[in-house]
Amino acid sequence: MGNADSDVVFQSYGRCCNNESFFIDFYDRFMGSSAEIRALFANTNMAAQRHLLRNGIMQLVLHARGMPDTKLRALGCSHSRTGFNIRPEWYGLWLDALLATLRQYDPQFDETTALCWRRAIGPGIEVIRGAY
Ligand code: HEM
Repeated sequence: MGNADSDVVFQSYGRCCNNESFFIDFYDRFMGSSAEIRALFANTNMAAQRHLLRNGIMQLVLHARGMPDTKLRALGCSHSRTGFNIRPEWYGLWLDALLATLRQYDPQFDETTALCWRRAIGPGIEVIRGAY
């Protein structure tokens, strides 16, 4: 299982995802990118949310490695207009915040790594975003 992109991404995430600070810095950055986004998390238990996101990103990585999109479709449902109402244009900010945080935490991160991340998880993000 796995292609060259998803192997790079799997290794890169492995160097980041066991560090709680990675997720703290991700959300600081993501919420810092828009007051509207910050407002969405005003009543969220962020310790729990960081844990959920750790798993959510892993779902994107596993989808890139050939896993079925069942879990991503469920996230699409919860993020859709009938759920958290996450507008499609916000996913670009989400991906920018993720890549900036990966660059900060993965000591082996370079432009190739960034490209591999974009190519590998782009289709999975579209599954979530497309359910809007
Ligand atoms: C909840 C993952 C994009 C806002 C969640 C949860 C996961 C998750 C795993 C908890 C499970 C659930 O409630 O369904 C992801 C992934 C994303 C993404 C993998 C990228 C494709 C976004 C974006 C926004 C957002 C772009 C906002 C602009 C929220 C909110 C919640 C949530 C508001 C609920 C928080 C609460 O319970 O108070 N997300 N998400 N997510 N997400 Fe996302």
